[in-house]
Amino acid sequence: MATAAAQRTAGTEADGTPDTAGTTAHQRAFDAAVAAEERIEPRDWMPDAYRATLVRQIAQHAHSEIIGMQPEANWITRAPSLRRKAILMAKVQDEAGHGLYLYSAAETLGTSRDELLDKLHSGRQKYSSIFNYPTLTWADVGAIGWLVDGAAITNQVPLCRCSYGPYARAMVRICKEESFHQRQGYELLLALGKGTPEQHAMAQDAVNRWWWPSLMMFGPPDDESQHSAQSMEWKIKRHSNDELRQRFVDICVPQAESLGLTLPDPELRWNEERGHYDFGPIDWTEFWEVLKGNGPCNEQRITQRRRAHDEGAWVREAAAAHAAKHTGGAGGTGATRA
Ligand SMILES: [Fe+2]
Ligand SMILES: [Fe+2]
Repeated sequence: MATAAAQRTAGTEADGTPDTAGTTAHQRAFDAAVAAEERIEPRDWMPDAYRATLVRQIAQHAHSEIIGMQPEANWITRAPSLRRKAILMAKVQDEAGHGLYLYSAAETLGTSRDELLDKLHSGRQKYSSIFNYPTLTWADVGAIGWLVDGAAITNQVPLCRCSYGPYARAMVRICKEESFHQRQGYELLLALGKGTPEQHAMAQDAVNRWWWPSLMMFGPPDDESQHSAQSMEWKIKRHSNDELRQRFVDICVPQAESLGLTLPDPELRWNEERGHYDFGPIDWTEFWEVLKGNGPCNEQRITQRRRAHDEGAWVREAAAAHAAKHTGGAGGTGATRA
């Protein structure tokens, strides 16, 4: 029995010819595979718009991972203990790894890493706006882990079932590491929340600053979200922005209570009828301003990223020369390692 996957890879020229309804056999096989919850793999035929959507989303995700290293790296040298420093370093390194998995996933769609980095550096591709906010105190490391990584997990767990195979598989590993990130943030805030009055105040201040931007991480409301409907149809996305945001709020409220911290929203209350927490309106003007480049750290983040890329040029050159040497490629001796 031919599965949808076999049909869409065993292409003939006729596959590209539209039938009377204007649908090609390729398209029908793709639609059938998506409907049957099969994974679309790199060599399979896929609609151009599906490919372009994935490249845009995976690139933006990869960029967010590596730009996201900056606000927390800011505190590595000032971590209050060896234990905290080791944890934070491990987390920041994980984020670099997430970037690598995701750039690799994007490469399977025929886009090189150089091209994507070039688009990031020239502002033609975006990263998550959350990383354009500054980390003012040590408690921000906790608030980022708890809220920002927490929001990322809420967003990313459903991506483990994304219709595009390489992206879905990258997300499985990323989500495991994100759980550690969320835990370390929560545990850090717990220590501060139960600490001295000054420590408690520092934790509360950090949560006050990160709460609303974290809610914005789920993207604009459903009725204003440009790409949502099509992405849901393709099973790249499984839940709407508003659904995921609500799920996140519902998770955070009891956790904030256990931390002994409050969330900065006077309208936050349990709605018995809906079975969810109601929350106040989000300031979308702020969201669009930060997205346009007018957040507190947009310029600093991209300048630092370009500098890191330039300063890493020698590593890339050395790695390429090493690879060439061991594969017998241009400039290599063809010798293999003993
Ligand atoms: Fe990450
Ligand atoms: Fe993370």
